Amino acid sequence: MSSNLAIKLRSGTQQAHTEAENVGFMKCFLQGVVDKGCFAKFLANLYYIYSELEAAIKSNREHPVISQVYFPELNRKASLERDMVFYYGNDWHKQITPSTVAQAYINRIREISVSEPALLLGHAYTRYMGDLSGGQMLQKIAQSALKLSGYEGTSFYNFEQIPDKKAFKDKYRQALDAVPIDNAIANRIVAEANHAFQFNLQMAQELEEYLIKAIGQVLFDSLNHPHNPGSTEVAAAN
Ligand code: HEM
Repeated sequence: MSSNLAIKLRSGTQQAHTEAENVGFMKCFLQGVVDKGCFAKFLANLYYIYSELEAAIKSNREHPVISQVYFPELNRKASLERDMVFYYGNDWHKQITPSTVAQAYINRIREISVSEPALLLGHAYTRYMGDLSGGQMLQKIAQSALKLSGYEGTSFYNFEQIPDKKAFKDKYRQALDAVPIDNAIANRIVAEANHAFQFNLQMAQELEEYLIKAIGQVLFDSLNHPHNPGSTEVAAAN
């Protein structure tokens, strides 16, 4: 019997999705306002999140619920490591730390991985389905705004083992529907997905401070270049 988990997740997180899309950082992103340092910080947080999530899913791969939605081809940790080398160089590990919200997000994943592993589905759904959907759009915007070639610096969005995203998303939704859970657990997974959305929204909000500074710098530079002649220079020339 179907748990209808896929549709429950979609309708149960619709409002959170709208909120996430409307956060300043994302709205700027969609309009092509992307700062390299800010984008690198965004990916660095995701590096920590995916490392934790993928380790948690792997260690629970025999779990009756997790085993039904176990798709290692989704894994993002290795591609995020490539992006970290691109932005920070070979000693990237020494240069990055998770933000306050990212640390809380990691702690939550670690906690449910032990207390109720089925809830990991809420986190996997929120991130991977998003990466395969709107994420693909964000990759194109970042590539063009940061003048990157191919997937350099945006490896994270490149699902090399999933050439047909739509077919994969259909398969993922079918797998969600087939998980052996009752209504109460389904509701807890939806609540956990909403929790995941909140973490993502707050991580985006944390970055706004940096983005505002970066936008201010761009504006400042554009007002100061090219060199304008001083008023006494103009007077002397006349
Ligand atoms: C500007 C930001 C975003 C845009 C433009 C966007 C866009 C989209 C679009 C167009 C879809 C529908 C794809 C389809 O039906 O195949 C989608 C689905 C989805 N997005 Fe986003 N999204 C954004 C941000 C986010 C964020 C921040 C998250 C969570 C971290 C997220 C998670 C999801 C999920 C889980 C789905 C799958 C819904 C379902 O079919 O069950 N999105 N997004």
